[in-house]
Amino acid sequence: MTNSPLVSVSKVRKSYGRAGSSGGTPVLRGVSLDVARGEFVALMGASGSGKTTLLNLVGGIDSTDEGSIHVDGTALESMTDDSRSAFRLRNIGFVFQFFNLLPNLTVKENISLPLLFLGVKEGAAHRSANEAANEVGLGDKTERLVHQLSGGEMQRVGIARALVHKPKLLLADEPTGNLDSRTGKSILELLRSVGTTHHLTILMATHDMGAAESCDRVVRMADGQVTDEPSKP
Ligand SMILES: Nc1ncnc2c1ncn2[C@@H]1O[C@H](COP(=O)(O)OP(=O)(O)O)[C@@H](O)[C@H]1O
Ligand SMILES: [Mg+2]
Repeated sequence: MTNSPLVSVSKVRKSYGRAGSSGGTPVLRGVSLDVARGEFVALMGASGSGKTTLLNLVGGIDSTDEGSIHVDGTALESMTDDSRSAFRLRNIGFVFQFFNLLPNLTVKENISLPLLFLGVKEGAAHRSANEAANEVGLGDKTERLVHQLSGGEMQRVGIARALVHKPKLLLADEPTGNLDSRTGKSILELLRSVGTTHHLTILMATHDMGAAESCDRVVRMADGQVTDEPSKP
């Protein structure tokens, strides 16, 4: 099991518009992709190529029409929606382009949320949140309201929130897409370093040409398909 890929996507098809695989507009047209344990993979491709759809399927937010997705040996398509949600809460962290933080809560409170959802008591959740804040360089800002932070700081909160419950897999959807290039670079470096520290597997959709430097491998998508799987350029 330890040598098996953490994420294994096989011949996945997904359409939107109508239930089932026969109707609607095909968005993923037979995607296969493995991500090894501890690997940092950048998923690149034009807008509309299906990157977000694929991340949502791997994260169990949405379900496939055809094909299979295994995360850490668990077949997501054979789970009920509820058990998939529970699996996601325990095993996966998400980082978003627009951060998806609660602006009127503090840094510490935002980072605590996944733990509270998992039933951790508030005191323990806040202690873990403070540790995660330290790790992303926000140890001195844990009591700040999130709306008072810069974009780069907000994304650091987003990364701390994605890490706080010690997931195996981190999914990031254009995490630098709303940041200037210098801040984006520091966010990519932070993802790289927390990934290494925590032996995380990271799958990141991005347009950022600098991403290739921070990650282990670039996978390209076009029109709902993986077009190549070259090693790092
Ligand atoms: N919920 C949805 N309903 C209908 N169409 C969707 C939905 N989500 C995405 N799409 C369509 O699927 C295609 C791929 O979208 P997406 O996965 O967001 O691509 P990317 O993240 O690479 O820009 C686009 O044509 C988009 O319009
Ligand atoms: Mg997208």
